[in-house]
Amino acid sequence: MKVYEKVIKHIEHQLRSGALQAYDFLPSVRSLSQTLNVSKNSVIRAYIALEQSGVILAHPRKGFSIKADTEYDQPQPPSPQKVIRGATSLDIIGSAQRQADVVFGSANPDTRIKGRKEFYKQLNKLVRLEIKSPAIYSHYQAPPGNLELRQQIAKKTHSGHAELDPEEIIITNGAQEAISLALRSTTQSGDIIAVESPCFYGTLQCIEALGLQIIEIPSHAPDGIDLEQLSNILERWEIKTILLNPHANNPLGFNMPDTMKSSLMAIAQAYDLVIIEDDVFGKLVHTSQRRRTLKSMDTEGRVILCSALSKILDPDIRIGWVSPGRYFDQVNYLKYVTTLATSGLMQHASALWMESANFDRHIKQLQNNYRQRKILFIEALKTCLPVEAHINNPDSGYLCWITLPLNIDGDHLFERMKSEGVSITPGSLFGTARQFQHCIRLNFSTFDNTPQQILALARLGEIISEEVNFQAQKSPT
Ligand SMILES: Cc1ncc(COP(=O)(O)O)c(C=O)c1O
Repeated sequence: MKVYEKVIKHIEHQLRSGALQAYDFLPSVRSLSQTLNVSKNSVIRAYIALEQSGVILAHPRKGFSIKADTEYDQPQPPSPQKVIRGATSLDIIGSAQRQADVVFGSANPDTRIKGRKEFYKQLNKLVRLEIKSPAIYSHYQAPPGNLELRQQIAKKTHSGHAELDPEEIIITNGAQEAISLALRSTTQSGDIIAVESPCFYGTLQCIEALGLQIIEIPSHAPDGIDLEQLSNILERWEIKTILLNPHANNPLGFNMPDTMKSSLMAIAQAYDLVIIEDDVFGKLVHTSQRRRTLKSMDTEGRVILCSALSKILDPDIRIGWVSPGRYFDQVNYLKYVTTLATSGLMQHASALWMESANFDRHIKQLQNNYRQRKILFIEALKTCLPVEAHINNPDSGYLCWITLPLNIDGDHLFERMKSEGVSITPGSLFGTARQFQHCIRLNFSTFDNTPQQILALARLGEIISEEVNFQAQKSPT
């Protein structure tokens, strides 16, 4: 398939999913060529072909708009979009991660940090106590969970905008359970949910498992979800819930600006939407002060905030939380009937650790750590990857999204790198229709510029160049 044909496919996908509709203007040639990492000529050729086939209309000096009454302009229910790999993506990512010598794959944090040792010392003390006088933790720590921990979460993990009340927090097994409970409490099988696209694959899998229909709304750095497209979609479809990851977004690393968040809140009010706010990376903002959560702007209990200690301490302890607003009772009950409780021992150790005066220092260290790593990593990528690779410079977090020419297959790169002992994450996992097949995500949380890591990146660069050259030989346009 030629590059311009892939551009056409991309637009057709947006038309079918409802992300683009009659009278909408297409992105400018420059912007689409950057988004898809293709030449402007390929975009122009695609637009001309779509104009000739009667799908779009040219407006001199204004661009192209979608024509009405085309085959795409029929009100069709969005078909349930299947996550391409379903549960198998877990196997792929998991095994690649375990076997890799150099790890740029799953979104694990740096677990060599001092704060983590301090946590395990606290845990060790509690375990010794338990050995001496057993049965402290032998009962279920029923939801909403340990009060001291909920108090610490309310006090320490958010931005000082008085957004969380300990009485409104429920402890969960990581953010993943928080998100799953939020989805289950606010939707029923068959409902349509809007997500930003690209979207963390764990969330897509959860949506798939719950039998929900999905509409993916394009999201871009630095602003996040396209609010205009969201409004168009809301006009057209009955959507009750939207799920977003607005801070240190996985995989794009942006922080949605506060003005955009205010506009989103106004939209949510107008359409009576529930917002599930995935804030699992929220503390890992590098560049500026922590921005306000959507939760802090919510006066109607419509935002369900989900977060965890996974990215700032250790994913293995499985401590997360949800602040479900007006859905508190449903979430609390569902938590109870799903897992009964979260480990009391882990909750207590987490509360003690957070109480210790070092929490704020720990977060500052993480932020500095990841900011410095990012600079090193982007430098290394610029040296190692060919010019065809568009490197997204993340604002926050520790994930880097790379967009390759449309005809490069990220799944294939994943397999080739795996055979070289290097884990990466294929972009295809972040969408339902393989729209990110030409992308990959790299994790730099443990990037120390070691010779082994640099060699791995250099090898990635060589493989990308080989693929680019191979494709160029196959199709010279
Ligand atoms: C955006 C996002 N949300 C949620 C999760 C799940 O987090 P947890 O490990 O706390 O369940 C992850 C894990 O990588 C993630 O990246």
